[in-house]
Amino acid sequence: MTQVFAHRGYAASFAENTMKAFKEAEKAGADGIELDVQLTKDGEMVVIHDEKLNRTTNGNGFVKDFSYKEISKLNANKSGGAKEPIPLLKDVLKWMQGNRLICNIELKNGFFPYEGMEEKVIKLVRDYGLEERIIFSSFNHYSIVYCYRLAPEIEIAPLYSGRIFMPWIYAKSIQAKAIHPNYKGLTNDIIRKSIENGISVRPYTINNEEDMKYLFTLNCSAIITDDPVKALKLRKGIERDQ
Ligand code: G3P
Ligand code: CA
Repeated sequence: MTQVFAHRGYAASFAENTMKAFKEAEKAGADGIELDVQLTKDGEMVVIHDEKLNRTTNGNGFVKDFSYKEISKLNANKSGGAKEPIPLLKDVLKWMQGNRLICNIELKNGFFPYEGMEEKVIKLVRDYGLEERIIFSSFNHYSIVYCYRLAPEIEIAPLYSGRIFMPWIYAKSIQAKAIHPNYKGLTNDIIRKSIENGISVRPYTINNEEDMKYLFTLNCSAIITDDPVKALKLRKGIERDQ
């Protein structure tokens, strides 16, 4: 069965990368959540997609230039309604103690290298005993390989948007158990061969009904979607028809 991962939480209906979006994804019955991590000036791991605060919060400037105390006062729900803070990664992992979700932590260290990020994230995952339920991904493949060297018990998956030749071979070469490709460059053949070779395939970001149905029918390992409710409803329908 294809798993459904809620991209930045249930981002189609709630402010992305907030506890509200993660909780609503869990309520909807998602198998997992995906989230993005950046580091503050004082080295706290915060859950926010962009290097800058501007798009998703009422702050301005780079996350890395503010202390967590300053960041904690901001509102990550710009569209109105209740204020939602930018979560600490720790808040999410603490909340995960009370559910069975998988969490795909994307390390956003392609633009700023955030020295020490890998060590910090691994320590937190180990402190919460979540090694089996975490997947590290990044567009920075050097970073996930480093994670694997530090913590081989935690799964890694390269994110990419182009077309890697025979990505299942590449994945094996860096000890990844999965690939997280942009859906645009993905073919039926790549999905099939990767899975046959023991490499899970979790494309992003699948929001269109037709694409969801197609990937469910192919039995793709997982989809990463902004709309877990839509995806789960379609998956149920397909299961019923099979
Ligand atoms: O993990 C899949 C997806 O989140 C990668 O792209 O830009 O949405 O973080 P982006
Ligand atoms: Ca992401």
